[in-house]
Amino acid sequence: MPVNLKGRSLLTLKDFTPDEIRYLLNLAANLKAKKRAGIRGDLLEGKNIVLLFEKTSTRTRCAFEVAALDEGAHVTFLSNSQMGKKESLEDTAKVLGRFYDGIEFRGFKQETVELLAKHAGVPVWNGLTDLYHPTQVLADCLTIMEHVAKPLNKVKLVYVGDARNNMGNSLMIISAKLGMHFVGIAPASLFPEEGLVNEMRELAKSTGAKIEFSEDIAAVDGADAIYTDVWVSMGEEAQFEERIKLLTPYRVTMDMMRMTHNPDCIFLHCLPSFHDLETTVGREIYEKYGVAEQEVTDEVFRAPCSKVFDEAENRMHTIKAVMVATAGR
Ligand code: CP
Ligand code: NVA
Repeated sequence: MPVNLKGRSLLTLKDFTPDEIRYLLNLAANLKAKKRAGIRGDLLEGKNIVLLFEKTSTRTRCAFEVAALDEGAHVTFLSNSQMGKKESLEDTAKVLGRFYDGIEFRGFKQETVELLAKHAGVPVWNGLTDLYHPTQVLADCLTIMEHVAKPLNKVKLVYVGDARNNMGNSLMIISAKLGMHFVGIAPASLFPEEGLVNEMRELAKSTGAKIEFSEDIAAVDGADAIYTDVWVSMGEEAQFEERIKLLTPYRVTMDMMRMTHNPDCIFLHCLPSFHDLETTVGREIYEKYGVAEQEVTDEVFRAPCSKVFDEAENRMHTIKAVMVATAGR
């Protein structure tokens, strides 16, 4: 059956079939090749896109803007709207749905993006909430396709760190969808919510995926990709002290890369990353707790195995695919 995603919202990826996800990844690869060939597109010609941001962003905002402009759409960036303060989410969604052909939302509550999608009448795309980061994991899978010489359903993806954050949840979901072997390595107190794990394990039965968790970093053995994320996500800044204690043994180091026994294992990170002291927050944490490198060492971050900037670029190509497929002409 041909895939048709017109009008669909992207909220968690849970409601996308494996075929639909593979379609988005292939479309992203084609759009990337098209951009490399210098071909300007018109697949979003005449469309208007609004980008709502409650939380900060570099990649996601820029990826949406560049992707939209590349294919002929116009973009409004909105971070100071009336939404939720003087106007309900429902009313805001109805208004924006009259003006725009697609709405991106980045913020705190998953319910917000779900409510926008319920009432807008146009596709709504989750650009990150506390619970999920679905556009990020599309970019991650495209990067794995480019750098790991195996089909995705043969790949072992190991996520090390805060396994119950938006990245841990979304990587587990896409792994279950695409038949990957996903291993979350974290202290047990940071394992994801049991209901979501069970749901993904149930799905894995039909896709051939394997979903595992371990507290032991030796579980990186055989990994094709090691992935980590910040120890403290946006909005959780009060947790720094506790997370440093919990997650220091889980920092990605060259020793951990060697423990994979796979010389071709790549390193991935959604970014931004605290791998050195070149940020104000990184420096504050260093001054307060003496931690100079947080979730990954500078050595791994800058090593040839690190594909983090290809991954960042792929945000743009995959987000373009999502907009073209769901709101294109
Ligand atoms: N990875 C990611 O979402 O980056 P930004 O926070 O910069 O958008
Ligand atoms: N878990 C991180 C991801 C940033 C892209 C956060 O939510 O801050």
